[in-house]
Amino acid sequence: MKHILKKKLKSSSKRWLTRQFKDVYVIKAKEEGFRSRSSFKLLEINKKFRMLSNNLNILELGSSPGGWAQVYSKINTKGKNLAIDLINMAKVENVNFLKNNFLSESCKNEIHNFFENKKIDIIFSDMAPNSIGNSVIDSIKINHLALEVVNFGYKLLNLGGYLITKYFSGKDELSLIKVSKYYFKKINFFKPASSRSESKEMYLVLSGLRKN
Ligand SMILES: C[S@@+](CC[C@H](N)C(=O)[O-])C[C@H]1O[C@@H](n2cnc3c(N)ncnc32)[C@H](O)[C@@H]1O
Repeated sequence: MKHILKKKLKSSSKRWLTRQFKDVYVIKAKEEGFRSRSSFKLLEINKKFRMLSNNLNILELGSSPGGWAQVYSKINTKGKNLAIDLINMAKVENVNFLKNNFLSESCKNEIHNFFENKKIDIIFSDMAPNSIGNSVIDSIKINHLALEVVNFGYKLLNLGGYLITKYFSGKDELSLIKVSKYYFKKINFFKPASSRSESKEMYLVLSGLRKN
């Protein structure tokens, strides 16, 4: 580690590297063959809410590098798994990957086509736009994405289905929560232990879709 840190790096890169080397979840992810420490967040969400099983239609938004896909694809071996991201994702067995922008019409059409207009059992979104380093703007951008996921997702979801989306806690979460309560009877706010404590990152776990 020391020889890497001795290289000419920006101080922010050095801070990031130091944190990565010390992070127990980064170390654990390497040991257990996960592509990212994010896998532990989904393992924790599933331990608490028990939504994963076999034979499901699963849609994942913001899937790269594939840490979550590695988790659900091992359980949903007989179902259909579609993972989407703006950037490439190396192949994960049992998962179909689509490189596209979730906000585009073409992406939404491809989702409908992939599931042959059938309902989806679980929609996961761990999408996060590139940080611009301004926590207020970053938070608005991420919660805007989450709102899009809820507005699009409720129409596709099975009555017994789950929608799980990342969001940032703060003032601008209010419209996201209002809209979520309008469409769903059950709304849970979850912060996995593996989510960095200094981050405003949270997960909204929605179920009990209201009939529409
Ligand atoms: C935190 S990472 C996801 C990590 C992933 N859950 C895992 O376990 O490996 C967030 C991802 O969201 C993607 N993303 C951000 N905005 C997006 C959009 N509009 N459409 C699709 N993907 C998006 C980014 O490219 C990034 O790869």
